[in-house]
Amino acid sequence: MNFSLNSNAIASTKADCLVVALPEQGDWPASTTGADSALGGLITKLQKAGDINGKNAETSLIPLNDQPWDRLLVVGTGKDTERTGANFRKALAAMTSALKDGPSKSVLISLTDTALTGNDSLSSELAKLSLIGRTLEDQLYSFSEFKSEKPSARKLNKVLVATSDAGKAQKEAFNLGLATGRGMNLARDLGNMPPNICHPSWLAERANKLATEHDCIKTEVLDEKQMKKLGMNSLLAVGQGSAQPPRLIIMEYRGGNAKDKPYVLVGKGITFDTGGISLKPGAGMDEMKYDMGGSAAVFGAMQVLAETKPKINVVAVIAAAENMPDGNASRPGDIVTTMSGQTVEILNTDAEGRLVLCDALTYVKKFDPEVVIDLATLTGACIIALGHETTGLMANNDELANELLAAGERANDKAWRLPIWEEYQTLLDSNFADMANIGGRTAGTITAACFLARFTKEYRWAHLDIAGTAWHSGKAKGSSGRPVPLLVDYLMSHAGK
Ligand code: BES
Ligand code: MN
Ligand code: ZN
Repeated sequence: MNFSLNSNAIASTKADCLVVALPEQGDWPASTTGADSALGGLITKLQKAGDINGKNAETSLIPLNDQPWDRLLVVGTGKDTERTGANFRKALAAMTSALKDGPSKSVLISLTDTALTGNDSLSSELAKLSLIGRTLEDQLYSFSEFKSEKPSARKLNKVLVATSDAGKAQKEAFNLGLATGRGMNLARDLGNMPPNICHPSWLAERANKLATEHDCIKTEVLDEKQMKKLGMNSLLAVGQGSAQPPRLIIMEYRGGNAKDKPYVLVGKGITFDTGGISLKPGAGMDEMKYDMGGSAAVFGAMQVLAETKPKINVVAVIAAAENMPDGNASRPGDIVTTMSGQTVEILNTDAEGRLVLCDALTYVKKFDPEVVIDLATLTGACIIALGHETTGLMANNDELANELLAAGERANDKAWRLPIWEEYQTLLDSNFADMANIGGRTAGTITAACFLARFTKEYRWAHLDIAGTAWHSGKAKGSSGRPVPLLVDYLMSHAGK
């Protein structure tokens, strides 16, 4: 797909399809008025006749004769009072699905002059360009690698986005949006990959691939022997029942000054979670291939950095293992000594995410991090608490927590904070080790984070529980690409100018 900005007059820009906005009521954007007069009042006529009504996210494709465009796609943007960022997002998604399988090969999208209500973070032209870029990549995603009958190739191959000025700032905003969409799509590809292919060493290979594709990414992979030497016994215990050996994958992007401390991302990379000896029930277990969703998002974010090259240092660490039952698997009751020296009684082998993360969180101290953010499909309890809309956020630092919440709002990839107060820590008491790897029945998301908090005392840390948000179940089963947008928004807000 060829994407570019266009600041020439729309009437003199040829494309197979022109896209304009139609409000349900109130003033039209200048580009709609301009297209209307270029088309001899066609839009006015169709609206008066009731053929098009401008209801938000309703689209109509109108064939044209002897015009610079073969057809016109009118996208409803609703009433003035309804024109919120959220509704504008819906309108853009509707536009993309109308274009997706349509006959047009090239399209000119003229929507950035649509005014939104209030002071929505999407009000500026730059924010709209970024959102258009992201929506296009996001909505055009498909995963058909394992279908023997491939969907026919998409006709649409050229997208022009109209803007007041195709300057540096506009290009950067649009490109960041496109890169964010592609980062989500990389995360989705990795998540959707079947678990017989996507195992820890395959993920490591993908990290090497990212480093080959982008000179600014450096990758290092630790095998079992190296992890054993470092004392990462907790991570190793999770992988020991699997024929696929665990890996610790490190990716570095250093776009900032050499002395700038790195932002560190840590991803849970359980490529399949059977629960181990504490075996999960069978129904829906296939979805546990998504238990590497945290690491998939880390990959996505790293690719965005590689493509957009912001001035920031970021280190990504992925704790990759497969949680399987086996003669060699760890048992409930086993006690392991973590890399930190603290001992853990494994009371439930299905609480494996925290067991791989705790060693990765100890390992990252060596980077002297600015902050550490871990991402993990950690607890089913988080889905009960927050559903599938919202990521759970826990942190040992208020400023970091607030910045991540704000980034989630701006990027429409929202999170909500839960407490990890000291009082919860006793739930992890063990009679035989420093701690157990499970709390009780209550506050499961919080006790999981409280466990991690015992390993993150030396730096500012936030934990994102994405159990409910990393993928969709049911008919639309598939990876969501979240929380790549949140991460990218946060990291970009800390990049140097
Ligand atoms: N990967 C799961 C969490 C999960 C379950 C995410 C369902 C999304 C959907 C995690 O490893 C797990 O099994 N957690 C247990 C913890 C419990 C044993 C304390 C859970 O949530 O049941
Ligand atoms: Mn589990
Ligand atoms: Zn898991």
